[in-house]
Amino acid sequence: MLVDFKIPSPPFTSIFTDEFVGRESLSKLEELFVERAVEQRVKHFSTGRLCAKKALESLNITDVEILMNEDKAPVWPEGVVGSISHSKSMAGAVVAFANKVSSIGLDIETIGGVNPDMWDMLFLASEQAFLQQFTGDKLTFYTTLLFSGKEAFYKFQHPLTKTFLDFTDVAMNLIEGQFEIAVLKDFPGKELLPVSTPIYFTQQGNQLITLCYHERV
Ligand SMILES: CC(C)(COP(=O)(O)OP(=O)(O)OC[C@H]1O[C@@H](n2cnc3c(N)ncnc32)[C@H](O)[C@@H]1OP(=O)(O)O)[C@@H](O)C(=O)NCCC(=O)NCCS
Repeated sequence: MLVDFKIPSPPFTSIFTDEFVGRESLSKLEELFVERAVEQRVKHFSTGRLCAKKALESLNITDVEILMNEDKAPVWPEGVVGSISHSKSMAGAVVAFANKVSSIGLDIETIGGVNPDMWDMLFLASEQAFLQQFTGDKLTFYTTLLFSGKEAFYKFQHPLTKTFLDFTDVAMNLIEGQFEIAVLKDFPGKELLPVSTPIYFTQQGNQLITLCYHERV
């Protein structure tokens, strides 16, 4: 499935699909992580990993297993960074060489999944004020975008800082037409993150795909 983030010369490879596979695509060790999982979780885990392996093939990395870290992050082959996401109807993965990209985060959301009663838990006053200028489909879209951008950012930042950040520990701002995330909370390791991280997104039907990464210079 072609997903275009409209980034000129992206330093990463991405693979997306809406055709889910099952545990037969997993290695024996990978299967252990979903041994007791319900079928939907097995499908999501297997399809995300299949996308990741296909993306790795485009970096000429073949015959790999992608195990799971204690913090639930995927264990990527040496010299590679990556991220996996799945929604009810889509799965995808992005990978890049670690000498080009320090970290990368991906999120896929079904547009409309964030209810207004979740706003206070997810969004700062400034973000709620931004959303309040919209109504109808635009409100639904931007609400999903703010949520998804933060989830993509979490997967980007956690492998670098090993720190849990809550939704209100970060602020998503729109600066000259570009969404960016800044970390508000102070913690040891914050210096490993960019001061502001651009958030890229694209829509595929009712799916919103969000991405952030930091390219080494
Ligand atoms: C971890 C989290 C971001 C996953 O997002 P999600 O929308 O629930 O699920 P997704 O399908 O998009 O992503 C799941 C994938 O994330 C990846 N992941 C899980 N923990 C991770 C971590 N610590 N670091 C990087 N990637 C991680 C895994 O690949 C997982 O899929 P897999 O188990 O099949 O391998 C979310 O569950 C969470 O805990 N959020 C709270 C923290 C947060 O988002 N803060 C926002 C401000 S920074």
